[in-house]
Amino acid sequence: MQIVRESMALRNALDAMRSGGERIALVPTMGALHDGHLALVERAKELAGRVVATIFVNPLQFNDPADLERYPRQEEADLEKLREAGCDAVWLPLADEMYPDGFATTVSVKGVSDRWEGAHRPGHFDGVATVVAKLLIAAMPDVAVFGEKDFQQLAVIRRLTRDLGLRTEIVGHETVREVDGLAMSSRNALLSAEERERAPRLHEALAKAAGEIADGGSVEGALSAAKKTIAETGFGRVDYLAYVDGATLDPLDKHREGGRLIAAAFLGKVRLIDNLRVD
Ligand code: PAJ
Repeated sequence: MQIVRESMALRNALDAMRSGGERIALVPTMGALHDGHLALVERAKELAGRVVATIFVNPLQFNDPADLERYPRQEEADLEKLREAGCDAVWLPLADEMYPDGFATTVSVKGVSDRWEGAHRPGHFDGVATVVAKLLIAAMPDVAVFGEKDFQQLAVIRRLTRDLGLRTEIVGHETVREVDGLAMSSRNALLSAEERERAPRLHEALAKAAGEIADGGSVEGALSAAKKTIAETGFGRVDYLAYVDGATLDPLDKHREGGRLIAAAFLGKVRLIDNLRVD
């Protein structure tokens, strides 16, 4: 597995892969890798002959500097996991190259970024869109794989790829869960033992609401029942729990093809997000 940092080294590595006629898949991450990330690598291997993962803790997308400071960094362990998963190359961009002195350009995706995560984390999606645009432009992969775990992020990335005319195909991978249903996340490690036991109730509440909505029940009724369940479980502030259009993220008041339940709520100090398709 090749490890590259400078953009010139990336270009050389990609040129060598392309001259062998291989399709290239990109898997962008911020490191602290778990099985959810590695599932994206597996999917990428099915989609292309060569897989390049990226690890970059992107300062632009953290609205809270303390959160950026605290973000787990475990480069050696991550590289080992990617090697075992069969990645061909890992790109660890240099911050100075990513954001050179005087950096002044922002990619901002209106509409789909505005609500939900966007409303609760000002500037977050501009940071995500800017870095993802830069990663895609630098690597020009044939395909890039992102997790549905960050469902709104995936919608933002699909929009920006279309709008900027990037030729990369964006593929979403379903959320990878622990056996009890909790969506895998590096933040799960911050839960106390007791919180960890309660955490899967968020997914259970969404699953119940999804069933009700799919069966023709009232959306409003299903959402309030789900909020009540998670409040009773000991969750604190609920940033949002909503039923939305899967592409625009606009709220829906009736079941519609492609509708999605999305939620963000605090359990103690830990903010958990999850989402579920409603069939
Ligand atoms: P990060 O949180 O490291 O996630 C990297 C990728 O892994 C994202 O596409 C995310 O949706 C996916 N992922 C995380 N947990 C998952 C799970 N349980 N199941 C499936 N996929 C999962 O998301 C980011 O980094 C950044 O915003 C990034 C896109 C890299 C831009 O900086």
